[in-house]
Amino acid sequence: MMNWSMAAVLLSVVGELSLLPLPSDAMSLKFVSEDKVKSRGDIGKNPEVDMNTTELISSKGYPVESHTVITEDGYILGLYRIPHGLHNRARKGIRPAVLLVHGLVASCDDFLVNPANESLGFILADAGADVWLGNTRGNVYSRRHTTLDPLSYHFWKFRKVSARWAPRMLTDEMKMQRKTTCAKLLKHYQEEGEEFIQRIVTGDRFWVHHCDPESKPQSMEYRHISSLSPRKFKVVAYARKFMLTVLWDSEGIVHIEFLKQGNTVNSERYISTLRKLSVMLTRVRLTKHAILHHDNARSHTSRKTEEALHKINFVILPHPSYSPDLSPSDFYLFPKLKEHLRGNHYESDEDVEAAVRHWFRQKCVDFFKDGMRQLVRRWQLCVDRDGDYVEK
Ligand SMILES: *[C@@H]1O[C@H](CO)[C@@H](O)[C@H](O)[C@H]1NC(C)=O
Ligand SMILES: *[C@@H]1O[C@H](CO)[C@@H](O)[C@H](O)[C@H]1NC(C)=O
Repeated sequence: MMNWSMAAVLLSVVGELSLLPLPSDAMSLKFVSEDKVKSRGDIGKNPEVDMNTTELISSKGYPVESHTVITEDGYILGLYRIPHGLHNRARKGIRPAVLLVHGLVASCDDFLVNPANESLGFILADAGADVWLGNTRGNVYSRRHTTLDPLSYHFWKFRKVSARWAPRMLTDEMKMQRKTTCAKLLKHYQEEGEEFIQRIVTGDRFWVHHCDPESKPQSMEYRHISSLSPRKFKVVAYARKFMLTVLWDSEGIVHIEFLKQGNTVNSERYISTLRKLSVMLTRVRLTKHAILHHDNARSHTSRKTEEALHKINFVILPHPSYSPDLSPSDFYLFPKLKEHLRGNHYESDEDVEAAVRHWFRQKCVDFFKDGMRQLVRRWQLCVDRDGDYVEK
């Protein structure tokens, strides 16, 4: 089977693109022959409408292979391959492998439905690539499971892995960096003990929605396009959100900020947050010599921010790249907050803000301590796993 690390390019096309207004002689109409188009109101039926992936590929004369991938949790996914183009079968040398991955509510057919010279799948094959077409769980080509019935609730009860979590295949170099960093941090911990953990102030940003759907299976229900959606109101409300910045340590929340939709976080804004944090720290954690822990987002590592950090006199805790699994906000605080807010509907930014503040206030010190303790445990697990992701 395929060696996944060969995949040279990962592409994603968002299904909603098809909702964009198309020009009157849009590409998608071109392959309906002229004589079939009697009038604007009757453009005939596109013969490809009823074709599946293998048919779409072979009808254009291209070679096709069908494969299945079984995920670690038992989902059986359809994976298709166009091993070469129309005229380059005999070409020698290395054929780069490309894995095309579709977007939300779509399938790999999105890369195949235009004329061959205008569909990415065929264009890449003709350009000499070994083209692989993936399908995510639950879509029309990936609705099978080793034990679960696709009609059952449990089949659909999978959770979307946050886009920040696992999209990146860790290279050996990244794993090495993660392992080395975690080993170093563990050593500090062993030398300095609990005090080291108590000095850490960690934080991140997070989108909070006015309304989060109650549960995934419900929000993923398939509906006929013309059926009335009882959740229409929620769909609209869902679009409203704002950004929450939280900085916290093993004793509790140190600083929170709410940022309305439409604002972006750049270095200037982050520096102003850090200044406020610094003031708060001297006020609420009197003697503490804090160690700041944040991820490697651009606004955190820019030169401006680095200079400001130096002036404020913050020590930075080393954090390897692409490691949300080692960031207590990502693996602990935000998922728990999200769980709490899920299913509630808030009328205004103020309402959500009040709910968030209230939830934080309710939490006892042990709650925050526990999050930090899990960080230490994860450092150890990361070392034990030679730098691989720590899932739980
Ligand atoms: C497409 O349909 C054909 C004919 O029914 C079938 O043999 C083939 O396995 C199908 N391919 C996929 C990808 O479902
Ligand atoms: C694709 O091929 C068709 C038919 O040969 C041609 O009319 C069209 O211009 C081509 N499209 C591109 C992008 O080259």
